[in-house]
Amino acid sequence: MNFPITRMRRYRKNSKIRDIVRETKLNKEDLIYPIFVKEDLKDGEKEAISTMPGEFRYSLNDCVEYAKELEAKGLKSIIVFGIPSAEKKDEIGSPAFASTGIVQRTVRKLKEETDLVIITDVCLCQYTSHGHCGLIEKNDDTDFGFEILNDESLEYLAKVALSHAEAGADIVAPSDMMDGRIQALREILDENGYYNTMIMSYSVKFASSFYYPFREAACSSPSAGNRKSYQMDPANALEAIREAELDIIEGADFLMVKPALPYLDIIKTIKDEFTLPLVTYNVSGEYSMIMAAIENGYLSEEAIMESLLSIKRAGADLIITNFAPYALDHL
Ligand code: PBG
Ligand code: ZN
Repeated sequence: MNFPITRMRRYRKNSKIRDIVRETKLNKEDLIYPIFVKEDLKDGEKEAISTMPGEFRYSLNDCVEYAKELEAKGLKSIIVFGIPSAEKKDEIGSPAFASTGIVQRTVRKLKEETDLVIITDVCLCQYTSHGHCGLIEKNDDTDFGFEILNDESLEYLAKVALSHAEAGADIVAPSDMMDGRIQALREILDENGYYNTMIMSYSVKFASSFYYPFREAACSSPSAGNRKSYQMDPANALEAIREAELDIIEGADFLMVKPALPYLDIIKTIKDEFTLPLVTYNVSGEYSMIMAAIENGYLSEEAIMESLLSIKRAGADLIITNFAPYALDHL
């Protein structure tokens, strides 16, 4: 039927009609808030992150207090990022797997004082002196003179995941992009009785310039080179399917696509191909880009909910986003 019989605008007549025909809905349960906890900070001394307007690094206790506030507003899950004392960083990222590390202590307290689902980022880059996500070794056949070792790094990443599980993490989320890491994590968790600890794999993680504000926030920029030998080439879509497939075979419980907004096509592809719960990471650069535009008056705040909704519409089940506090207030 054509016009004038069919009129699409009938669906948009007023907000009541629009509400009942809306196809995609964002829920509070969909949101995962990434929180930065910094070992060196004293309570009451939260530190503004210069590259992320409105975001802060917290002391352990302040992090837990803020998490409680968000929980009261309806947040269900949180992902914890640790920033260790700079002088503790070493070649192998030891502070990442210390039982008294900043993440491990934070997780224990979050488990005691909240009912949130606690997710931890499993990686080495915030903890290594060189800022890479794995161990490194001199190798001239690389872009910048050293190789980020794959197999040798697995053992350390597994130790990190185990230490997080021991602290009580519900879900460990490896973001390093080494091959075989999901298998390595599943094995060490199971061997130690943590067969119910879930693995949220950063399965499809692109080597993106949109991580820049995060690296500033987490003090995790590589001191030399870049991450292109382990994170994916932004040009590749078919490769995303293989990455996800391998993670499923190795035992991942959740898949992830990261970043979100510049990769909505990949989110849709992974959602169509696989049945695992799909997480996407609306990364720091996406946050800061929109915040900067709002602060300058180029965009209105409505851009925030619209972009989160577009990520959900593309196929995401869960969204890790620094906009979670804002979204909780607007849902
Ligand atoms: C660490 C890690 C990064 C992010 C999450 N975990 C940075 C990176 O890989 O360089 C980025 C998150 C964001 O930009 O919000 N492996
Ligand atoms: Zn890393």
